[in-house]
Amino acid sequence: MSDSYPLPKDWQHPLDPPPDYKRLRQEAPVCPVRMWDGKTPWLVSRYQDVLAVLSDPRLVLDSTLPGFPHISPSSSARQGRPLPFFLRPDAEYRVQRAMLVQEFLPRRMELLRPSIQRTVDAALDAMLAGPRPVDLMGAFALPVALQVICDLLGVPHAGAERLHVLSRTIGSRASSREEATQALVALDDFFLELVEANLREPTDTLIGRVVAEQVATGRLSAPDAASMFHSLFYAGHGPPAYMFGLGTLALLLDPGQLEKFREMEDPAAITAAVQELLRFINVSHLARQRVATVDVTIGGQLIRAGEGILAQPDSANRDETVFSDPDRLDLHREVHRHFAFGHGIHLCTGRALSLIEFEVVFKTLFQRIPTLRLAVPPEEVRFKKDENLLGVHELPVTWEPASLYSPR
Ligand code: HEM
Repeated sequence: MSDSYPLPKDWQHPLDPPPDYKRLRQEAPVCPVRMWDGKTPWLVSRYQDVLAVLSDPRLVLDSTLPGFPHISPSSSARQGRPLPFFLRPDAEYRVQRAMLVQEFLPRRMELLRPSIQRTVDAALDAMLAGPRPVDLMGAFALPVALQVICDLLGVPHAGAERLHVLSRTIGSRASSREEATQALVALDDFFLELVEANLREPTDTLIGRVVAEQVATGRLSAPDAASMFHSLFYAGHGPPAYMFGLGTLALLLDPGQLEKFREMEDPAAITAAVQELLRFINVSHLARQRVATVDVTIGGQLIRAGEGILAQPDSANRDETVFSDPDRLDLHREVHRHFAFGHGIHLCTGRALSLIEFEVVFKTLFQRIPTLRLAVPPEEVRFKKDENLLGVHELPVTWEPASLYSPR
């Protein structure tokens, strides 16, 4: 009988992928799994096979196809609503994605570094002025991630928390289809109003520019634009916020690596360290979903046109045939390629922005609070077990006030 998906995690080791992947990589690297709705897509667990799936343009992320492997009832709620651009049929997807390319160019993102630094510093000032212990997620990680994405898109800060709560309903495998639909409608309505406001009075923000160039000229409908911005908000704040928390946790749990990270000054070494944290943690830990549009053979297994595929990034990122001692965090490791941001045509739009956020956040946090430590035993940190993203409910931390360092 096939495994049911998602495979169970061992919550004693929450930063590690489900232990069964080790077995599957060796014994059944491409195997059918059972989904909540009875579908049986192919689970792909080896690095080389995940690479082959994500590199093949004939394996598409088109959720309108019947074989699309929805991970939960909440993820199927998007059907019948204006779909985010990346879940659309290929031709439409490419047109809409092209509308965003200019906005996310790495050199353009680099210009945001000073304002991201200011956001991080201000959030730390506020946190350090408050009581200890404190929940790092609520006092720092979430506010920073929300402010960065709101500033980029042009979303008013007031109300951003409500948008985050709605996003969590959509991203929870415990939400019913009805609950997810209500949250989707609320988010789409919010962004539709923002599109209309920008049509009336353009702003110099990402939303303002795309509305002026694409919506006002009739190339993109207002509901499709709202869905695009909604998905940018959704994808653009949760993964970074959760990664701020888990990256901090991973470093606090590994003092040797934390020491190495503190010593790093070369920007290239810091970027490489952040890439290793991404490989190790896999915030977006559930499968990259694809549908075969033709018959293909992956890892020796024939997959028929129309069948669903789940390419598993966290398993591939711990593949022992590619990474030596893969379950060890090694910030000096040369990570030549990992799948935390996906790969191929759907490679994460926000990766350049995210890397800057992580570099600034982790460097600043550990520089300004040299004695930062967990305020509870590690096994008491509560993980979000039902969400599509890997994250913690809270990260209680504390520090010695006398040790604080102020760069200004
Ligand atoms: C920790 C940070 C992040 C992680 C781990 C992450 C992860 C991913 C992954 C794995 C994919 C590929 C999906 C697939 O192939 O099926 C993806 C796509 C995407 N991400 Fe991110 N992401 C992050 C941050 C962001 C940010 C900050 C933004 C926007 C500002 C963003 C926007 C997107 C979009 C729009 C796509 C769809 C791209 C496409 O299909 O062409 N992400 N992300």
